[in-house]
Amino acid sequence: MLKGKEIVLGVSGGIAVYKAVELTRLLVREGANVNVVMTKSAQQFVTPLTFQTLSGNPVSTELFDLTRRSEVKHVSLAEKSALLVIAPATANIIGKIASGIADDLLTTIVLATQAPILIAPAMNVHMWENPIVQDNIKRLKKIGLKFVEPGSGYLACGYEGKGRLTEPEAILKKIKALLK
Ligand SMILES: Cc1cc2nc3c(=O)[nH]c(=O)nc-3n(C[C@H](O)[C@H](O)[C@H](O)COP(=O)(O)O)c2cc1C
Repeated sequence: MLKGKEIVLGVSGGIAVYKAVELTRLLVREGANVNVVMTKSAQQFVTPLTFQTLSGNPVSTELFDLTRRSEVKHVSLAEKSALLVIAPATANIIGKIASGIADDLLTTIVLATQAPILIAPAMNVHMWENPIVQDNIKRLKKIGLKFVEPGSGYLACGYEGKGRLTEPEAILKKIKALLK
């Protein structure tokens, strides 16, 4: 059902970036055309080459990019996407979106797109429980952004609790539901 659908996958800098690799694979398997946008921090965890190879598309990382055609990338990606999914979404990117900050390619696309936005947060349990993060999420839900709740369990940071990125299959299910 995702055949030919244009999906922008925003990847921000958390340890769960490796799960976004699997999500890319699942989306491509369903026939979607996936354009991955990575923040600077995300590239500390996995290189763009991995996403580029799996998606079959160039990975976008720069807002100011002179190496490609003269298109304004944040506008073209924003306009062509049927859905923007951010997985994993850091506390930082959620905060920036909630504040209307657009200081890199991904946050600029968020402001420029009219497509539905799905956010899959992943972070340390104390970050997740922080009222600042919860307030930001509440605000974004109120204006129509969709979320997939993180799961609970053992976290990569060594803590136990809520904050694990939802499994890629569950994110895929939510994407399909939103695009129905
Ligand atoms: C090893 C490591 C793991 C991290 N994991 C997370 C995480 O899972 N969630 C999160 O919100 N921030 C995490 N951070 C912090 C973010 O990388 C940091 O806030 C960064 O500024 C996020 O940038 P971005 O939102 O532009 O990608 C981690 C940092 C390090 C060094």
